[in-house]
Amino acid sequence: MQELNIPKHIGIIMDGNGRWAQARNMNRTSGHKEGAKAVRKAITHARETGIKVLTLYAFSTENWSRPAQEVNAIMDMVGRYLSAETETMVKNGIKMKLIGDKSRFSGSLLRTINESEEKTKDCKDMILNIALNYGGRHELIRAMQSIASLVKDGDILPGDINEELVEKHLDTYGSGDCDLIIRTGGEKRISNFLMWQGAYSELYFSDVLWPDFDNEEFDKAINFYSSRQRRFGGLK
Ligand code: FPP
Repeated sequence: MQELNIPKHIGIIMDGNGRWAQARNMNRTSGHKEGAKAVRKAITHARETGIKVLTLYAFSTENWSRPAQEVNAIMDMVGRYLSAETETMVKNGIKMKLIGDKSRFSGSLLRTINESEEKTKDCKDMILNIALNYGGRHELIRAMQSIASLVKDGDILPGDINEELVEKHLDTYGSGDCDLIIRTGGEKRISNFLMWQGAYSELYFSDVLWPDFDNEEFDKAINFYSSRQRRFGGLK
């Protein structure tokens, strides 16, 4: 049997929580709650499969337009998830990093995030990036702002700006390029996720709604990746 070519870095757009709940006459928050259970399963499976970086899109910069109750419920869920799971993450060697703009988070959520990042910072088995108030363009704008300050202060010249320097100023610094982006819920869009890191990602779209995304579905995506021949613009 041919050996599986496991992606190093997987990004997931977890779509379909609302529709999952609607189909069961439940409210959208119940869908997100069920989605959080799928998050836990996916993290465990990724680690056991040998994935080195898992980036989960939990809340986009555009999601603020949802009803306040839903926004609060998602934020709350992420906070509770981190409080409950940080010790397990430490035990399992998972380094958690929050990617996105932290400036709009409540004080208590921010404290929970910082504590979880601090406690897991030396973990080496897998990086878990949770994208919360994240947008790929916004991440690039923030990177450009930091780089522009360096130029303004005379620390670097415009000609010193290269891919390596841009990467250093991204929230995902240390995670590298994303090899595979999975989107559940049937839509075929990237929705401003990992705009820089996903430049050469393989794309896998699944009709399964996020709460139903289990290990078997995850393996289908990994097998899809494994069967692809990546050329990065060259010839094989
Ligand atoms: C998309 O489904 C899902 C979200 C915007 C929220 C994802 C959040 C979680 C899974 C909660 C927990 C997260 C962590 C990291 C613990 P949707 O609401 O857009 O679904 P729809 O397209 O069916 O309406």
